[in-house]
Amino acid sequence: MEFLKWRLLPLLSLVASIAFFYIINHPKPSHDECSLLAHDHFWISSKRIVTPKGVISGAVEVKRGKIVSVIEENWQGNTRIEHVIDYGEAVVMPGLIDVHSHLDDPGRAEWEGFPSGTRAAAAGGLTTLIDMPLNSFPSTVSKETFELKLKAAAKRIHVDVGFWGGLVPENAFNRSALEGLLKAGVLGLKSFMCPSGINDFPMTNANHIKEGLSVLAKYRRPLLVHAEIEQELEGNSELEDSRSYSTYLKTRPASWEEAAVRELLTVTNGTRTGGPAEGAHLHIVHLSNARSSLDLIKEAKRSGDSITVETCPHYLAFSAEEIQDGDTRFKCAPPIRDSANREQLWEALVGGKIDMLSSDHSPTVPELKCLNDGNFLKAWGGISSLQFVLPVTWSYGRKYGISLEQLASWWSEKPAKLAGLDLKGAIEIGNYADIAVWEPEAEFDLNDSHPIYIKHPSISAYMGSRLSGKVLATYVRGNLVYKDGEHSTAACGVPILAS
Ligand SMILES: *[C@@H]1O[C@H](CO)[C@@H](O)[C@H](O)[C@H]1NC(C)=O
Ligand SMILES: *[C@@H]1O[C@H](CO)[C@@H](O)[C@H](O)[C@H]1NC(C)=O
Ligand SMILES: [Zn+2]
Repeated sequence: MEFLKWRLLPLLSLVASIAFFYIINHPKPSHDECSLLAHDHFWISSKRIVTPKGVISGAVEVKRGKIVSVIEENWQGNTRIEHVIDYGEAVVMPGLIDVHSHLDDPGRAEWEGFPSGTRAAAAGGLTTLIDMPLNSFPSTVSKETFELKLKAAAKRIHVDVGFWGGLVPENAFNRSALEGLLKAGVLGLKSFMCPSGINDFPMTNANHIKEGLSVLAKYRRPLLVHAEIEQELEGNSELEDSRSYSTYLKTRPASWEEAAVRELLTVTNGTRTGGPAEGAHLHIVHLSNARSSLDLIKEAKRSGDSITVETCPHYLAFSAEEIQDGDTRFKCAPPIRDSANREQLWEALVGGKIDMLSSDHSPTVPELKCLNDGNFLKAWGGISSLQFVLPVTWSYGRKYGISLEQLASWWSEKPAKLAGLDLKGAIEIGNYADIAVWEPEAEFDLNDSHPIYIKHPSISAYMGSRLSGKVLATYVRGNLVYKDGEHSTAACGVPILAS
């Protein structure tokens, strides 16, 4: 008996270690599950590759997920090169980075969710999303709630995803709580200067924001702010036609954005060299008011405040005049304003006063969008756009003569810088091979016959439009995750943690 035990013990431990090895390794998908391409060393060639040095004709060499060389012109003379994917005239660009996505997971995954949102991203040429700390439940406002986020994202993301944490009154004056969240790896914080529409995400005032910036300074990470402050309104919207867009527009005038920007600028001076919050940065999300706010921001930048601003494709594509009664798909906050404002936003973007673009993809379930009764005052505010932002920006921007380099700057380079993603945002040696391949000239109708991956296409304001700019392929860290309506089988995106 004793003898048998001694003979069995090594055998048992061998079985146990094999089982352990299997459990540890099996969940990791194979290369073939992560990528629609069998190789991990290959060349992507094209006549239009967008690099920091301009648009070149040549090839990008990808090896084990990174860009290892960028070759101009006569590279084809090298006959030893195998595994070339030649995209001809199609544009090869750095993958888009969206610093403002609401994926609503965990807790409200029926609104979007990590799998559907990141598959939509891949189909749209986006290779990295930074998820907002709200509309999921609970909101990401502590180390513990951030852990729930990471758990929800694990093995369910098809592109890379980073995370913003929430700055709320509850944690703003609690340094150890904020540091716990930052140490856990959020890339920065986000707060609201008006009610967020989500109960467990209350608004902050300038004191909270000042405090938040002083903590962020140590970590050299940004604070993103929804800049609208509620002020007394003229008239009573309750008495007006709730199906009319102008009724809604009057409830959130441009003066609310201006008031918020003015208030923010009383604390952003702390981010100047030598200031108490030097190292921190303030980023104004989804600016809609092109008039007064932009001049104030420009002046602050000139004075040395560390401040940037984004706008979104829906403010550049649509105008208040065009929104039909009852079409609540267009409701968002701040609201889409008049066409003269839209012109000024384009001017500001092209002129460099607006630094970058983001989707602010903020979906919900169709019932809460109130599509049936068309009540603008009751409907959920948020535009669904994630998969379409590249063709939308391009289609509406062509009128303003925008270039491929500008697209790459607004959608990749500047967002990477904001989020502190050192190895992303450009087709450059040493960076991750995050690449979007698309045909700017190809037109398509965004209707039911188009492959759409966001969870609720019916609530998207872009449905029914004709766009140009078709995404052919998307690579994330060298994995071909999307190609012609097909996704790789496994979700091999990486959760990005700040360190
Ligand atoms: C600050 O946050 C920590 C960590 O979340 C918590 O344990 C502590 O009770 C909080 N302190 C106050 C004064 O709320
Ligand atoms: C920033 O501006 C505010 C309001 O104008 C002022 O009270 C404060 O002293 C300034 N702070 C710094 C660091 O310049
Ligand atoms: Zn948002």
